[in-house]
Amino acid sequence: MNRSEHTELSGYAEELIRGRRATRAFRPEPVPEQTMRAIFSLAGAAPSNSNAQPWRVEVVSGAPRERLAASLRAAHAAGRTSVDFPYGDDIYSPVQQERRAAFGSLLYGTLGIRPDDHAARAAYDAESLDFYGAPHVAFLFVSEQDNARLAGDVGAYMQTLLLAMTAYGVASCPQGLLSFYADDVRAELGRTAGKLLVGVSFGYADVAAAVNHIDTGRAAWDETTTFHA
Ligand SMILES: Cc1cc2nc3c(=O)[nH]c(=O)nc-3n(C[C@H](O)[C@H](O)[C@H](O)COP(=O)(O)O)c2cc1C
Repeated sequence: MNRSEHTELSGYAEELIRGRRATRAFRPEPVPEQTMRAIFSLAGAAPSNSNAQPWRVEVVSGAPRERLAASLRAAHAAGRTSVDFPYGDDIYSPVQQERRAAFGSLLYGTLGIRPDDHAARAAYDAESLDFYGAPHVAFLFVSEQDNARLAGDVGAYMQTLLLAMTAYGVASCPQGLLSFYADDVRAELGRTAGKLLVGVSFGYADVAAAVNHIDTGRAAWDETTTFHA
């Protein structure tokens, strides 16, 4: 077989990887427990440095999900944030800033929010603390230190999880915003250890919502990748 040719598996991979999208409107029906077990079992196949698997995953549904959403909204209203991994605009290079701005125009434009309407943007962000209406949210903790290599491993876990969800027909949105309330999340979950990297809201997509049909696009691959031979 000519190895550069498309195979059945590469066709599935194209469909799976390109088929995953950040979903920002969900239907309320929960994902059956058996499907959840299959997804999180598959996600655990993610690679990590020395196979250390430095992730800790807390999946929240039902009444605890409602309590958590209320607690995040209260923290937001009080202006109380707690971040385990520092974040700020200054972490991005100029080209990354341009990509972020293009994404912001696309997202808020689809929502009918004008670029200069900062209040409406902030209100939408605050609303997203209800997990965009998703019935479940998975919090990905780095256990135990806020080390970049360990966080990289948890990033690999996150993408494996997102693809596993896609494969089972489950929609998702990684939400870095949820990690701005790390202490509130820990308090609600009764956890004391671990650093909160990201929350992943998930459930079934509301396919009628226009926000679920934005096409974010990517830089040409050869802008970010160089072959040395
Ligand atoms: C680590 C991480 C954090 C993210 N945080 C948020 C967030 O807080 N809110 C949100 O709506 N989307 C968030 N996203 C989704 C990105 O905006 C989205 O992945 C990106 O625009 C590309 O679009 P796509 O996922 O649909 O391909 C996050 C994605 C990642 C990987």
